[in-house]
Amino acid sequence: MLIKNRPSWFLNENESTPEAIYKQRREIVKKLGLAAAVTPFATQANAGLFDVFSPAKDETPYQDPRIALKGIDSKYSTQGLSLTPEDKVLTYNNFYEFGTSKGQPAELAKGFKTDPWTITIDGEVAKAVTLDMDDVMKSMQIEERIYRHRCVEAWSMNVPWLGFSLASLLKLVQPTSKAKYVAFETLYDPERIPGQSSYSVGGGIDYPYVEGLTIAEAMNPLTLMTVGLYGKTLAPQNGAPLRLIVPWKYGFKGIKSIVKIHLLEEQPPTTWNKLGPNEYGFYANVNPNVDHPRWSQASERFIGEGSIFSSRRQDTLMFNGYGEEVASLYKGLDLKRNY
Ligand code: MTE
Repeated sequence: MLIKNRPSWFLNENESTPEAIYKQRREIVKKLGLAAAVTPFATQANAGLFDVFSPAKDETPYQDPRIALKGIDSKYSTQGLSLTPEDKVLTYNNFYEFGTSKGQPAELAKGFKTDPWTITIDGEVAKAVTLDMDDVMKSMQIEERIYRHRCVEAWSMNVPWLGFSLASLLKLVQPTSKAKYVAFETLYDPERIPGQSSYSVGGGIDYPYVEGLTIAEAMNPLTLMTVGLYGKTLAPQNGAPLRLIVPWKYGFKGIKSIVKIHLLEEQPPTTWNKLGPNEYGFYANVNPNVDHPRWSQASERFIGEGSIFSSRRQDTLMFNGYGEEVASLYKGLDLKRNY
């Protein structure tokens, strides 16, 4: 099967991925005749692929059989990117509820229980729902998408996420014509999330962490409700069991451990914008031409193989390389004022 109408960010395979498992996986995919045969939705033919290339179940405590049923490549994946090694994605994190330094979330979120878990979707919708995460995992078509991941702090990674489009979830609740924005909320549970009760752990932020998108951004097919990475369900420090990934925006839009999604008419408040309105806007589109007041956004430290501190610098791309898909959302908007 060939991809028709490849978007511009669907690059040729010109850099090999660093992870052995991914090389092995591409080989298997080719042998099965599915090379570049990336379909947006799971089919009978490729269901079960993850069984072939996933690590043995005892290699990781959070391997999940629900993902093994459906993992596939997606046409929304950016091919040819050099992946950030899995151990770095798992240990270099921002999740202030579990500590404000990079290594802390992996330590402090160890054992954080994310099952059972429910997600409420309400507000300007015809059919408000409370969903059990287990049902979400079983019923949504989970795809793999390799995306660039750019933090406002000027570091970046390339990550193979697993998830489903937010649009497919929102269609279930039928947004009304008044639904102009989508607000997201992280679990608030100070007894289990240390930074929500301790200033020294959580930096004194007004929790729960909240984020928001316009309805057009939420419905864009690139916007991913993410349940895993590197073929496994999310580790707590990466936002288990459900987080947002908006690949053309700075990473802070990617709210973790979501329990509420609320559709509304007015622009909702967002955590970093409340903390520093001059530094963090509502839109937060990756933009090399608009510097953060305290540092340049023209380039970024790519976290790949080797030491984090000797990471190579690379130019930052407008909309993080996804302009063809999303620039039209901002037609007529002054991106310097609407940062
Ligand atoms: N979500 C919550 N609830 N709390 C946070 O502190 N940090 C954000 C985002 N989501 C954050 C959050 C920031 S600043 C970034 S860059 C990404 O998560 C980091 O995601 P990662 O650790 O999986 O790379």
